[in-house]
Amino acid sequence: MSKEVEATSLRDLLCGSVNEDHIGERVSVCGWVAKRREHGEHLAFLDVRDRSGVVQAVVEGSVDARSEYVVRVTGTVTPRPEGTVNDRLSTGAVELSDCQVEILSLAEAPPFQLDDRVEIDEQVRLRYRYLDIRRDRMQSNLRLRARVNAALRRAMDDQGFCEVETPLLWAPTPEGAREFVVPSRLHPGEFYVLPQSPQIAKQLLMVGGLDRYYQIARCLRDEDLRADRQFEFTQMDIEASFVNQDDVIRFVSRAVLDAAEVAIGERPGEIGTMTWAEALDRYGTDKPDLRFAMTLCDLSTVFADSNVKAFGAPTVKALRVSEGASYSRARLDQLTEQAKSLGAKGLAWFRVTSDGLDSPLARFLSVEESAAIATLDGAQVGDLVLVVADEYELACHVLGALRVTIGSPPVGDGPHHYVWVTEFPMFEGVDEDGNLQAAHHPFTMPHAEDLDLIETDPLKVRSQAYDLVLNGWELGSGSVRIHRADIQSRIFRALGISDEEAQNRFGFLLGAFRYGAPPHAGFAFGIDRLVAIFAGEENIREVIAFPKTQSGADLMTGAPKNITERQMRDLHVRFTTKGT
Ligand code: AMO
Repeated sequence: MSKEVEATSLRDLLCGSVNEDHIGERVSVCGWVAKRREHGEHLAFLDVRDRSGVVQAVVEGSVDARSEYVVRVTGTVTPRPEGTVNDRLSTGAVELSDCQVEILSLAEAPPFQLDDRVEIDEQVRLRYRYLDIRRDRMQSNLRLRARVNAALRRAMDDQGFCEVETPLLWAPTPEGAREFVVPSRLHPGEFYVLPQSPQIAKQLLMVGGLDRYYQIARCLRDEDLRADRQFEFTQMDIEASFVNQDDVIRFVSRAVLDAAEVAIGERPGEIGTMTWAEALDRYGTDKPDLRFAMTLCDLSTVFADSNVKAFGAPTVKALRVSEGASYSRARLDQLTEQAKSLGAKGLAWFRVTSDGLDSPLARFLSVEESAAIATLDGAQVGDLVLVVADEYELACHVLGALRVTIGSPPVGDGPHHYVWVTEFPMFEGVDEDGNLQAAHHPFTMPHAEDLDLIETDPLKVRSQAYDLVLNGWELGSGSVRIHRADIQSRIFRALGISDEEAQNRFGFLLGAFRYGAPPHAGFAFGIDRLVAIFAGEENIREVIAFPKTQSGADLMTGAPKNITERQMRDLHVRFTTKGT
């Protein structure tokens, strides 16, 4: 940053940029007292810290500036005496001498040390988030996030996209999560819904002829919180007209790769593509972590006529764990428990040893079956082979989850592996009422070749939906949308949504489509997730200024909180539960 930009009416330079070029100049800096050391009665060293770093001020005479006081220090930039140069600081060759210290604000002793080397309990960090933000970790994460946002905006602007802000007080959207609702003061008994995403709004912008829309959009979903989920999160949301899947993939790849380049200093290579069916078959998941090689193998043919009862299932899937023969019995029991908790009947394991397979099931295998396991995926002595026999998808999912448990490094570790997953199924099963469930959302266009299957074999219908996956996290998803009323009606019918219900829920969108809807497609990815991975953080809370805890509380403000009787009356709401 240039000196002109750093300067304000209170300061000439940021603390971290005072250096040998300024020797002899008298300058003012502002910041917090990071450290104070006394040398006798009349000499003190103050480390003054601002967002850019720390500079040492040498103060003669008495000064009552304690830790975290806010000060303005005016001094002469001087080389540090020989032997006191600190190579670890950008300002380590100089100090401010002959200083005048003006105290701008007093400070109580902070509840924790504002030093990144000290591990602080997260509850305390969140309660005093404003102090936590003074620390390097949050400073650098929030600045990284700002740089990523700026790169994304630049990429979208360059590609002809127009940024539009869509409403937060809105009507239900079809993303499938529970919604946050806001009671209306002016319309007693009626509610706004906070948007789960700008999905419908952006499709309406396409009907409006905007052609290419984007937004760094705040979304709200009342769902259980996890490392990669918050109630409020931010999407880079886009929609474009007269495009197909490849166009959207191109727009989004450009933006994500630009952001990666800004964040980590080098541009990742082209992002590859894999179909959903391949991802499931080889990795047992729709969000494959490609940082490590283990892939699922199919032994169904070999075990088709097996004598082993446990393997009498439509699919027999296996996974080789390199050097896994050393796993203890307790570890194998843990993996078996995990497999069972995911719905498997059990987990068969085989240690590959120089004397053949070591397993309770080994003696029941035919020669051919033993050989298939002992050589699975290039197996060698010392490896372990895990086998699950079940319905196809279940066997894949269970082994896919074990693969992640065994092999996945922390999400931010190692090289970044992006992959586009395409051709998702249109429907993902049936609900309690026997209605099909949309895998993405009901406005997703089926694959052109599968339209005839909507009524006859719906679970076989592929959709034109696609996800972007990074290191095993779903970064984003999108689809080509249905812009034809006839196809939309067929999908609603398949989902068990009556015409009346469709009108009720999405009437304004269907109405808009009657006035000329261009073919359109779009995508949204989670900026919190992207930045967390760039920052090497395991939880998106670390890249959000004021996040909620796992239980949805804001420890700093105390939200959620009671509101006054008066507010309740104005909003026409009354508690019905006891004790309120
Ligand atoms: P989807 O629901 O898949 O798609 O969301 C897109 C991306 O948003 C992020 N995300 C979240 N991040 C943090 N906390 C959450 N609770 C959370 N929920 C979602 C994820 C996810 O991949 N309207 C469609 C997109 C489209 O079709 O254009 C949508 O919202 O990174």
